[in-house]
Amino acid sequence: MIEKSELSNLIRNHVYKEVIKDKSFIIAANWKMHKTVKETREFMDCFSKVEWSEKNKVLFFPPSPYAFLVSELLKHSKAQFGMQNMYYESSGAYTGEVSPSMLLDFNCSYVLVGHSERRTLFSETDEMIRKKVCAAIKYGISPVLCIGENSEERSRNLYKEVLFWQVRNAIGNINSDSARKVVVAYEPVWAIGTGVNATPDQVEETHNYIRSILRELFENSVASVIPILYGGSVKKSNVTEIAVADNVSGFLIGGASLNPDEFGGIVKLLDA
Ligand code: PGA
Repeated sequence: MIEKSELSNLIRNHVYKEVIKDKSFIIAANWKMHKTVKETREFMDCFSKVEWSEKNKVLFFPPSPYAFLVSELLKHSKAQFGMQNMYYESSGAYTGEVSPSMLLDFNCSYVLVGHSERRTLFSETDEMIRKKVCAAIKYGISPVLCIGENSEERSRNLYKEVLFWQVRNAIGNINSDSARKVVVAYEPVWAIGTGVNATPDQVEETHNYIRSILRELFENSVASVIPILYGGSVKKSNVTEIAVADNVSGFLIGGASLNPDEFGGIVKLLDA
């Protein structure tokens, strides 16, 4: 006799699979300041065995010194890559920075903008983030605009206000045509690297809210297709239940993207 709980698990997994089948996802690996050349080669060697269908996109965000290496290693792969950061000027005396045209030299088509670690540890302001978004769009690069409230803002129920201003300040002044290039990544700061992910209900409610902000800013045909990724302690064991939530168009994954089996497992689960 099959246990009742086992049966409901089977039914739930079947329903998840059916929903996932009809959705397209962007699955992005944010490696932050991790990996050596040797580890990068080993990862890609292992990951090259992972397959996925055209409906999904896989992106890597390696540390910038490895851009060339990663572009070489991905030459025969469907996976694309982007940079974790970029300056908004095209060239000049900006020691330590990387320009949009340099990204294009590596066929790099995405850039993370406004990650919470850049906002908090490197004092990136809304104005800098806005300029980076505009520079990326000008050069034909898709900015992955990261937004998210901290734990105090969540517990004081201020997260909607925080998200509203983060979105407005970054992309409030671009037109609908430019907005087609934008990807939004909702990453609650309290979920990043903590092992505590936002619940599927929290993700759904927040992503629906973000979609409503986008609808206020852009014409509906654009606002309704801007991808909204979720990031924050995503792993193989929680990705499907979040993936089926409304307005979840993919994931930005830190810790779990460092291991090719874990990341490859996520890619496979979203390819149902
Ligand atoms: P995490 O990081 O998956 O390790 O929580 C996500 C991110 O910061 O992009």
